[in-house]
Amino acid sequence: MPLLGIILLSCAGAFILLLGYMHLETRLLKVRRVTIAAAVSPVRFMQFSDLHVGMMYVSLKKITAAVAAAKPDFLVFTGDYFQKEEETGRFISFMKQIRQVHAGPVFLCFGNHDRVDVFDPDERAFERVCAALTALGVTVLEDRNCIYNNEINIIGLSDERCTRIAERNSGIRADTAGTLAALRRDGMFNLLITHNSDILLRLPERAVDFAVTGHTHGAQVRTPFNIETKILHRRDKLASRYNMLRGLHTFRGIPFYINPGLGNNLFPIRFRAVPEITAYTVGKLE
Ligand SMILES: [Fe+2]
Repeated sequence: MPLLGIILLSCAGAFILLLGYMHLETRLLKVRRVTIAAAVSPVRFMQFSDLHVGMMYVSLKKITAAVAAAKPDFLVFTGDYFQKEEETGRFISFMKQIRQVHAGPVFLCFGNHDRVDVFDPDERAFERVCAALTALGVTVLEDRNCIYNNEINIIGLSDERCTRIAERNSGIRADTAGTLAALRRDGMFNLLITHNSDILLRLPERAVDFAVTGHTHGAQVRTPFNIETKILHRRDKLASRYNMLRGLHTFRGIPFYINPGLGNNLFPIRFRAVPEITAYTVGKLE
């Protein structure tokens, strides 16, 4: 075989192996622990984000085992659960399974895919999904708040990209800072849950004590020079301008964490962005 043929065959083999690994990575699960010091009694919660149930390959058994082992006080879900209406049922059954291992509070907000792909074409789908979630004891926090244990004020703000689309369509600027100010509680630990970190660009300095977000999938496939971010997240300012794609960051005095998600968008592959459930401990450090 000529040398060129051997080189081409080797390259094709390496590419197939790489693709195989990238698909395998979508099946892995990491539980990452994050500790935040705060003047409240210690509380533990877990964050789930970007399930994209139509393209999620982490086994439910692994997920429920992680929740059962961690025994969190509450769970938060930060958006992008489905991309087609027929996937909403699959998401609800996922939540039912979670309920089998976690009877405590669950707080949830929606992401751009939930809204744009499913709720906007069929407004009744939003009511149906919310009713099913409420029946499971899940608290939907879309521009709403809920107080946990008299110390933690959990604020859910609706997705920033959807707000941008609504502003473009209506020509009216949304008052996100005003919405947050009305939901904030002085003297409590104000925890923001929202899908896209860009919401922080609309908020004043130190508007909340901590925020948890998702949306970027931790880049999903991490390429040299962040090419994927420049293409897929060019409209997400914190990601494209400040390289805030995963993990802990601070913006305008607000510490926040970007969860890389559990599912996938566009292709069933991940690279150096292992699916994750984040396990937080918030409170007075020993
Ligand atoms: Fe997503």
